[in-house]
Amino acid sequence: MDSLALSCLILLSLPLLPFLSAANIPLGSTLSSTSNNSSWISPSRDFAFGFRQLNNSSDLFLLAIWFNKIPERTIIWHANEDNHPVLAPRGSTLELTATGLLLKDPGGQAIWDEKPNKIVSDAAMLDTGNFVLIASGNHSDYAWQSFKSPTDTILPTQILDLGSVLVSRLTETNLSKGRFELHFSNGSLEFIPVAWPSRFQYKSYYTSNTSSANSSESGHQLVFNESADIYIVKNNGQIVQLPLWAQLSPRADHYFRATLDFDGVFAEYAHSKNSSTNQGWFPTRTLPDSMCTRLATDIGSGICGFNSYCSLQNGRPFCDCPPGYVLVDPNNRFRGCKPNFWQGFGPDDGSRNAQELYEIREFNNVDWPLGDYERLEPSNQTECEISCLQDCSCAVAIYDGNRCWKKKLPLSNGWLRDTEFSKVLFKVRKGDFPAFSDNSGSKKERGPLFLLGAFLLGGSILCNAFLLLAILIFFKWRRRKYENNVQDSTTSATNLRFFSYDELKDATDGFKEELGRGSFGIVYKGVLKTASGNAIAVKKLDRLAQEREREFKSEVSAIGRTHHKNLVQLLGFCDEALNRLLVYEFMGNGTLANLIFAIPKPDWNLRVRISLEIARGLVYLHEGCNVPIIHCDIKPQNILLDHYFSPKISDFGLSKLLLSDHSRTHTMIRGTRGYVAPEWLKNAPVSAKVDVYSFGVMLLEIICCRRSVEMELEEESRAILTDWAYDCYVEGRLDALIDSDEAAMADRSRLHKWLMIAMWCIQEDPSKRPTMKVVMQMLEGLLEVPNPPWSSSFSIAVTES
Ligand SMILES: *[C@@H]1O[C@H](CO)[C@@H](O)[C@H](O)[C@H]1NC(C)=O
Ligand SMILES: *[C@@H]1O[C@H](CO)[C@@H](O)[C@H](O)[C@H]1NC(C)=O
Ligand SMILES: *[C@@H]1O[C@H](CO)[C@@H](O)[C@H](O)[C@H]1NC(C)=O
Ligand SMILES: *[C@@H]1O[C@H](CO)[C@@H](O)[C@H](O)[C@H]1NC(C)=O
Ligand SMILES: *[C@@H]1O[C@H](CO)[C@@H](O)[C@H](O)[C@H]1NC(C)=O
Ligand SMILES: *[C@@H]1O[C@H](CO)[C@@H](O)[C@H](O)[C@H]1NC(C)=O
Ligand SMILES: *[C@@H]1O[C@H](CO)[C@@H](O)[C@H](O)[C@H]1NC(C)=O
Ligand SMILES: *[C@@H]1O[C@H](CO)[C@@H](O)[C@H](O)[C@H]1NC(C)=O
Ligand SMILES: *[C@@H]1O[C@H](CO)[C@@H](O)[C@H](O)[C@H]1NC(C)=O
Ligand SMILES: *[C@@H]1O[C@H](CO)[C@@H](O)[C@H](O)[C@H]1NC(C)=O
Ligand SMILES: *[C@@H]1O[C@H](CO)[C@@H](O)[C@H](O)[C@H]1NC(C)=O
Ligand SMILES: *[C@@H]1O[C@H](CO)[C@@H](O)[C@H](O)[C@H]1NC(C)=O
Repeated sequence: MDSLALSCLILLSLPLLPFLSAANIPLGSTLSSTSNNSSWISPSRDFAFGFRQLNNSSDLFLLAIWFNKIPERTIIWHANEDNHPVLAPRGSTLELTATGLLLKDPGGQAIWDEKPNKIVSDAAMLDTGNFVLIASGNHSDYAWQSFKSPTDTILPTQILDLGSVLVSRLTETNLSKGRFELHFSNGSLEFIPVAWPSRFQYKSYYTSNTSSANSSESGHQLVFNESADIYIVKNNGQIVQLPLWAQLSPRADHYFRATLDFDGVFAEYAHSKNSSTNQGWFPTRTLPDSMCTRLATDIGSGICGFNSYCSLQNGRPFCDCPPGYVLVDPNNRFRGCKPNFWQGFGPDDGSRNAQELYEIREFNNVDWPLGDYERLEPSNQTECEISCLQDCSCAVAIYDGNRCWKKKLPLSNGWLRDTEFSKVLFKVRKGDFPAFSDNSGSKKERGPLFLLGAFLLGGSILCNAFLLLAILIFFKWRRRKYENNVQDSTTSATNLRFFSYDELKDATDGFKEELGRGSFGIVYKGVLKTASGNAIAVKKLDRLAQEREREFKSEVSAIGRTHHKNLVQLLGFCDEALNRLLVYEFMGNGTLANLIFAIPKPDWNLRVRISLEIARGLVYLHEGCNVPIIHCDIKPQNILLDHYFSPKISDFGLSKLLLSDHSRTHTMIRGTRGYVAPEWLKNAPVSAKVDVYSFGVMLLEIICCRRSVEMELEEESRAILTDWAYDCYVEGRLDALIDSDEAAMADRSRLHKWLMIAMWCIQEDPSKRPTMKVVMQMLEGLLEVPNPPWSSSFSIAVTES
């Protein structure tokens, strides 16, 4: 009976053995890639080393280390060989021996090994995430450790030293070695693009500039310290901070990792250890910024692949195809685009001439800085277009008013500019081909959506009123036609999606979690019940008469046509019976008001960056489109912050579309007291300058971290921020104004200049206020700031309340 019990015990404990959180793993231990997850787990259970099934339906397993307690079970290291992850078939075994680790397939063939040059006594999965083989005879000596051969990720306490390399993965899900590397070279930390699939290295796209002829002054380590700080250490021990983009103070109750992502961005991410927060990984800092233009060398495609163009979304590069081009690999936007039509003359073209076969489409604001092969000067637009149409080699021409540059394929380093750029004339073949790339869904379903995408993207760039009309008509038509089929519609960066009321009710859990109250409606948090599981913000407009109908149309059309990284992105809407809802991307960090009116004050440099970005968003609204858009209600409550603390202007509910021929218009008083320009209260005509006024007030609030009106203050002279700021400015009492903000005081010249800019913005006479573009150029330091004139009635707008 005993032997039976014993064998039962063994049977029971065998499968359990790998899950025991033993501190050390003795020689002879094995893991096997069966259908069950088999791993060695760290004492805290935070990390695991073992086999991971590649995907649910596959018989292949990865040998990896992962975060063990979080639902994503994010992989931070994997065994790889020859640029690809080692894939172990089901039934493979990994054995720990005195010579190292040996992975054998079910037939006993070795498929991977790790043979350090020291004898191993045992191994351990440490709580830091480091898997170590301990050297025999000295317990603090590691014969091998995963921290010294990282893949694309480092963890707190891990050091990347000379000779170690981080290599990005190919795509978000494909672990093969991708297009970017990060390592020390001659004392500097270099970010290097490679000519994938080879490993040839192009010129670096970012360098820490820490090399020096004096070797003790050269950098040699990238340190990710225990408190989640990342910096370079020089040979002489000096620390060099990296200009990581969004500084957030690390929080203790979080996991951290820093990954060289497949898009070339080195990002630190945090994840709550509290499983009930359910927020997933979110980026805390990134390096470098402006990825779209960093890779512009004379060979190589740029970040997005050939013939595509890059725009920044949440600080990350996003790739799209120009008109007439489609993605080379629908599953990988970074592989570039190809023409969707026959280039040159086809076999059936007979004697037809170029103008019959091809036409020119304008696709402005996107720049391909390289690849010119001819420059015509002087030239007019017609000549430029004809010259390109008749030239087999010409794929696109760029016309700047006098000069015509012709470019041939492949186009490289395309990027979407914030500001107006020359005319970009694309040669495409006539006839009906889908104008924009979108490769999801079946062909049948795609037809109308393609068109929609084309209209919207075209519209977003040209801001063409005609297209707008077409969209609205199209929406109506489509709604009727697809009434019962709305669930199938797809979302993509350039499509506005229709949502059914039930779908949104479902996504918001019955409109449960309120995020805030905007003009004319309440905003709720929701999660799309699709594979992406994206968080969304749903604005439910109040059910009130006619004006709301107009409101809805105006908001949909205004936002639908805008496309800027500092404007909140409209994803879609619902317009069913009396229910009108707008669906936006969800912004993880709340409103600017929450940030700047909080204690302690947020970092000065963060405030500086946010101000600049808001200014850019406003310049785009005012000048980026043929039809200027006045926001009319700029205030910190209407600026949302994403995970990167990038500001996004939201709530276009009050926006007033102006026709370009009369830029001043009478309108009902709108906006919010404290931010409203004086001319509004006088019922005088308003122009885009009302936004400049509100921006000025808000800039003061951002600088001082206080509200524009604070009646409960003891000192009456401080109650109105605009007056108080002017007094302080005139009397040179900047320190009183910003109240012990050391970082701001250290940046005194900017502080002084920005106060002057704010004074200019809040001039009572709208004609004295600069335009947003001038404001932006002054903020950026491109224009001198003259002394602001004295105006005795800054506070008209607020004292009437
Ligand atoms: C996998 O786990 C299940 C239940 O946990 C167990 O019945 C089965 O025997 C295990 N399979 C192997 C190969 O260990
Ligand atoms: C292995 O673990 C993953 C993640 O927890 C789980 O989804 C999967 O079902 C597990 N497989 C088995 C066979 O237990
Ligand atoms: C794999 O299975 C898990 C649960 O078993 C599921 O959550 C996940 O979506 C599946 N992944 C794929 C790619 O099918
Ligand atoms: C799973 O992996 C196999 C092998 O790489 C692949 O062929 C298959 O398409 C994958 N399945 C899914 C659902 O990703
Ligand atoms: C053990 O290894 C550590 C780390 O490599 C080393 O600092 C130490 O001197 C070694 N001790 C002995 C006795 O060799
Ligand atoms: C990853 O990409 C490589 C190179 O294109 C390819 O060979 C491999 O099959 C891909 N792996 C998966 C799992 O899709
Ligand atoms: C490094 O030096 C180059 C050239 O002088 C400069 O463009 C770049 O901004 C510097 N990078 C840093 C991080 O200072
Ligand atoms: C390394 O950097 C130093 C200082 O910038 C420079 O003088 C030297 O030429 C560099 N060496 C190489 C091989 O690039
Ligand atoms: C190198 O720099 C160190 C200071 O970091 C200095 O003490 C040393 O004299 C320098 N050496 C040379 C050769 O300049
Ligand atoms: C990490 O580095 C920062 C400075 O960059 C320092 O303030 C902090 O004390 C360090 N943390 C640890 C645990 O060394
Ligand atoms: C985890 O988060 C939830 C909700 O955010 C909170 O109620 C709970 O107290 C947290 N648990 C711990 C251990 O912090
Ligand atoms: C462009 O130039 C051509 C001749 O060079 C001329 O015939 C045509 O009228 C011009 N077009 C415009 C719009 O000026």
